[in-house]
Amino acid sequence: MDLAARLGLSVPLIQAPMAGTSTPALAASVSNAGALGSIAVGTLTPEAAVRDIAQVRAATDRAFNVNLFVHARCQPDPPREAAWIGALAPLFAEFDALPPATLETIYPTFAGNAEMLALLVDLAPPVVSFHFGLPDAGAIAALKSAGCLLLATATSLDEARAAGDAGIDAVVAQGWEAGGHRGMFDPAAPDDRLGTMALTRLLAARSRLPVIAAGGIMDGHGIRAALDLGAVAAQLGTAFVACPETAADQAYRAALASDAAHHTAMVHAISGRPARCLANRFTAFAETPNLPPVAPYPRAYHAGKALNAAAKAAGEDGFGAQWAGQGAPLSRPMPAAELVALLAEEFAAIR
Ligand SMILES: Cc1cc2nc3c(=O)[nH]c(=O)nc-3n(C[C@H](O)[C@H](O)[C@H](O)COP(=O)(O)O)c2cc1C
Repeated sequence: MDLAARLGLSVPLIQAPMAGTSTPALAASVSNAGALGSIAVGTLTPEAAVRDIAQVRAATDRAFNVNLFVHARCQPDPPREAAWIGALAPLFAEFDALPPATLETIYPTFAGNAEMLALLVDLAPPVVSFHFGLPDAGAIAALKSAGCLLLATATSLDEARAAGDAGIDAVVAQGWEAGGHRGMFDPAAPDDRLGTMALTRLLAARSRLPVIAAGGIMDGHGIRAALDLGAVAAQLGTAFVACPETAADQAYRAALASDAAHHTAMVHAISGRPARCLANRFTAFAETPNLPPVAPYPRAYHAGKALNAAAKAAGEDGFGAQWAGQGAPLSRPMPAAELVALLAEEFAAIR
C-alpha cells in the first residue's frame, strides 16, 4: 500500500501520537504541512476525545490519526500496590507529601470500551491507531466500515502477524530505541528488545503488512534509512516534543536540551509498563536495589503522577514522565510546520 498516496501526504512521515504531550494544534500543524498529525486519546474521557477530534478538524481538512491504548484490562492487586506505595513513600516525604492511600485505574483500556468505539465510528477520523494490543474483531470491523485506516504498534514479528490476522492495515514497527511506552502486547512476556533497524527489516520481509518504522528517527536521514529498509513511512515522536505546539512543560523541554538526552532509560517504575524516559530522578530511583514489584499499569502511573505533582510543587522537576527516544540529543526545537518542511527537505535531498 502506498500509505502516503492513500492519505494525501507529501512526505512519508507520521508525527507520533503522544499522550499528554501531543495536542490538536500540533497534529493540525503537522497535517497542514503535508505529514500525518496524530492525537492520543488513550488517557482521555470520551468527552475530551470528542473535543480534541473537533479541534483538529477545525484546524485542518487533511488526514489525521487518533490513537488509543488497548492494554489488557487492569487487575487491581492490593498487596502489591501497598508495597509499591510503601517504596515510594520516602520520596513523597522528601516533599512533605503523602502518597495516595490506594491506587486507581486512572484511565480505561479501549478493549471493550463501547462508548469510545461508538464515538469513533460516528466521527470516523481518517486514521485510528492502537498501542499495547488490538481491539476485538467487532471493533475493527466497525471502524473499517466507518472508513478509518487502522494502524497498530508491533514490537515483534508475532505482534505484527497478529495485527495482520486481525485486519489492521499497516503496522508501526516500534524499536527498542523508541521514546515513550513500549507497545508490546504483554509486558510480562519475554521481550527480544529488537532495535528499529532489525525490526523494520524483519517486518518488511516477513509480515504481510506495510511497515511504518518508529524509534530513534530524528531527521531526513533516518526517514530515508527507514524507507531503504522497506518501510512505507517513518513515525517520529521525540523529534516533535520540543515543538511549541506540544503540551511539554518547561522542565521537560529543558531536560531534552540537557545532558539527560544522552542517557535515556527504559523504566517501568513510572507507569507500570516499560517506557523510555530522559534520565532523571525517577529513572535513577528505578535502579534502586531490591525494590518491590511495580504496581500494575496504569495504577502505578497514579502514584507516579502524584509523586511528580508533589515534587513539582516543591520545585523538583526530576520526577516527570519525560519520555524520549535514544535520538533525543538530535532534537531541534522549532514550530511543527517548520520541522515537517525541514524533514521533507532533508529526506528529498538524499537519494
Ligand atoms: C512523549 C511520548 C509519548 C508517547 N505516547 C504515545 C501514545 O500515546 N501512543 C502511542 O501509540 N505511542 C506513543 N509514543 C511512542 C511513539 O508512538 C513512537 O513509538 C516513538 O515516539 C518513536 O520513537 P522516537 O520517540 O525515538 O521517535 C510516545 C512517545 C513519546 C516520545
